[in-house]
Amino acid sequence: MSTFTIGVRRAEQSDAEAITKVHDAAWRYAYDGIIPAPELARIIARRGPRWWDRAIRRGTAILVMEVAGEICGYATFGPNRARNLAQKGEIYEIYLLPEYQGIGLGTRLFLSARKELARFGFGSVVVWALSDNDNACRFYQNAGGRKVARASERFGNVQLIKVAYAWARTG
Ligand SMILES: CC(C)(COP(=O)(O)OP(=O)(O)OC[C@H]1O[C@@H](n2cnc3c(N)ncnc32)[C@H](O)[C@@H]1OP(=O)(O)O)[C@@H](O)C(=O)NCCC(=O)NCCS
Repeated sequence: MSTFTIGVRRAEQSDAEAITKVHDAAWRYAYDGIIPAPELARIIARRGPRWWDRAIRRGTAILVMEVAGEICGYATFGPNRARNLAQKGEIYEIYLLPEYQGIGLGTRLFLSARKELARFGFGSVVVWALSDNDNACRFYQNAGGRKVARASERFGNVQLIKVAYAWARTG
């Protein structure tokens, strides 16, 4: 019988390369056909190992998910950036390698990020998703998120709608 372990932990400097790979694959998978190709390529190119290395060294809150020793996902989070929303915390990004999606790992990573936010006093949480990202919107809705705002963001030559999902403080 083979066994494998699943774990979530804070990112370390040596993880920069692996997080870059997750970011690259997950963003292509999620946004191909949504974000214009040249803009998507630019975003991905900007987020190389040096970018992640610096983010980790600066103390950006980043969780990584490991399955059998391989980093297959990450989440970044911190204070809510939207002044017009009451939620204290925000999950800025949550991404899994495509081959690890749909088997419950995202739920686990999401709950770990919420737990970390709660530890810092950010019990209520908001997450933004592009409205064209059906998978993510369904995921947040099924996770109990309430739609609380809409906004738009420019990506290259297109303006895309994004939706904010919110969760009240738990416990
Ligand atoms: C969005 C994302 C983080 C969700 O993570 P995930 O691991 O795919 O999500 P889960 O597997 O926990 O849940 C997804 C679905 O699988 C189902 N599921 C959970 N565990 C399961 C299991 N063991 N077997 C079968 N299905 C399962 C869930 O019910 C859920 O259904 P739903 O989408 O209808 O709610 C992930 O899909 C992802 O990285 N997507 C691409 C990037 C992205 O869009 N990120 C969000 C940007 S805002």
